[in-house]
Amino acid sequence: MSNKNQFRVGIITASDKGSKGERIDISGTAIKEIVEKNGYVVSSYCILPDEKVLLEKEMIRLADENICDLILTTGGTGFSSRDITPEATLSVVERLAPGISEAIRAYSMTITKRAMLSRGVSGIRNQTLIVNLPGSPKAVTESLSFIIDELEHGICILKGLTRECARKG
Ligand code: MTE
Repeated sequence: MSNKNQFRVGIITASDKGSKGERIDISGTAIKEIVEKNGYVVSSYCILPDEKVLLEKEMIRLADENICDLILTTGGTGFSSRDITPEATLSVVERLAPGISEAIRAYSMTITKRAMLSRGVSGIRNQTLIVNLPGSPKAVTESLSFIIDELEHGICILKGLTRECARKG
C-alpha cells in the first residue's frame, strides 16, 4: 500500500543487550519492514540501553528537530527492573493518546493474556506521535500490524492535513 503523505518514522529499540551488540535487533527490523510496506519512510533508527535519560533525549531530539512524524519504540515495557520506556515516554509527551495502547493490549490479549503485562503508553510531543510497542519480535509484529492502518489518520489530524487525508477512512 502506498502512503501519499510519506510520513517519517523514527525507530527506537530499548535494549541493554542490543545496545552492546550482544543481541540482533530483530524487533527493530520487523518495525522497519511493516512501516515501509505501509508507505512510511524510516528517517531515524537507533538502539539504546534501557536508560531513561537517553530514551528521553532521543525522543525529544526526533520530535523537536522535526525528524519524525511518528516514533515507534520497542522494548522496555514489561516489569523487569530495567524496563523504563513508558516512564521515559510519559516524561516527554505533552498529550496522551491512550486509545492506541488500549487497542494494542485489547487486540494482543486475544492472542495471549500476557499482553496485560506490557505497560506501553502512547502520546504526542509537538507534531510527533510516540507509540511504545513491546519488545519481542512476535509482540511487535502483532501489535503494530493491528494499529498501523489507523495511525495515518491520526498523524494527518495532528499535522493539520485533514483535506489530504479525507480520501481515506
Ligand atoms: N503482545 C503481543 N501481541 N504478543 C505477545 O506475545 N507478550 C507480552 C506483552 N505483550 C506479547 C505482548 C509479554 S510476555 C510481556 S512480558 C510484555 O509484552 C512486555 O514486553 P517487553 O518488556 O519486552 O516490552
